[in-house]
Amino acid sequence: MGIAILGTGAYLPERVVTNQDLEKIVDTTDEWIRTRTGISTRHIGGQGDETYLLAARAAANALQMAEVSAGEIDLIIVATISSHMLMPSCACFVQKELGANRAFAFDINAACSGFVYALDLADKYIQADPSKKILVIGAEALSSRTNWEDRNTCILFGDGAGAVILGYVEGSRGIMGSKLFSDGKLWSLLHMHTAPSCNPELLQSGNPGVHIVMEGREVFKYAVKAMEEAILALLEQEQVVLDAIKLIIPHQANIRILNNLVERLGISAEKVFINVQKYGNTSAASIPIALDEANRDSRVEAGDIVLLCSFGGGFTWGATLIRW
Ligand code: ACO
Repeated sequence: MGIAILGTGAYLPERVVTNQDLEKIVDTTDEWIRTRTGISTRHIGGQGDETYLLAARAAANALQMAEVSAGEIDLIIVATISSHMLMPSCACFVQKELGANRAFAFDINAACSGFVYALDLADKYIQADPSKKILVIGAEALSSRTNWEDRNTCILFGDGAGAVILGYVEGSRGIMGSKLFSDGKLWSLLHMHTAPSCNPELLQSGNPGVHIVMEGREVFKYAVKAMEEAILALLEQEQVVLDAIKLIIPHQANIRILNNLVERLGISAEKVFINVQKYGNTSAASIPIALDEANRDSRVEAGDIVLLCSFGGGFTWGATLIRW
């Protein structure tokens, strides 16, 4: 028995913002951004691109590929840190939008690792009841959580969504296993406050602002080490060797983190899927967007072993192995 990805989908808002566009907003250059991060463009949403709408459009594409109707979905999990409301969840809005009336729906917050966490949850639900079909989405409108006056962070992020449909299949295809980690002690290195509080005492201490705050260098060091640790731990758990993996699809944070990872693992750069240059860092959406692109470009084929790995605020990190 396998719990397999039956279809993938992605959606990016139409508006493309280049590094040259950012030169007009903050004191930066195209050259600095490209050499430090590998990013050339990112997609930024506007009116009508709320997180749940990006999510629903990605989901519609995944449903179409899977040849599954919205009415057949039992559960919707959305990984996000940028829903347009705290309540109801983004997943409930997606359910309404798709007309997935039979599904129950909830969000999870594991920052950039949200998609691999959600995939693991969905895997376990289907193990418990193989009749279930689950829609897992990573969706972000990070432009609404970015401080556009902070050149350290505003150049990094983009908006978008990716989705997969999971279901039981005969044979050896499917999710082989996952390894997930968190370390809340390191929260302050990468965080984002909730909406400004109405509590008078907190208001007196100043409004921290609802945007991403980051110690870039520290995040960089932890990200490389943590993703390597997750990958090696998962390979040991599943008794799979690195050479057996066809494609690694990492969280697309920035090119230098990924180049460092390639170096530490001693693998060829071709083994790692990279599209950060086009979309920037889309947090929980980055892995499912990349997975959909790799799938549609036939970078992965039936029987290939694919490895997903992530790192994000929390800190949270993890990896998932899938036989395609
Ligand atoms: N344009 C021009 N100069 C800049 C910019 C910018 N956009 N941003 C910072 N600088 C300047 C700094 O002010 C500093 O100037 P100073 O030397 O005069 O003080 C100089 O560049 C070096 O700054 P550093 O922060 O040390 O630059 P670094 O080489 O570390 O690169 C970066 C910064 C790209 C953020 C890097 O630390 C990084 O990639 N960190 C990983 C963080 C990340 O990817 N976070 C995403 C969220 S977490 C995740 O998804 C995993």
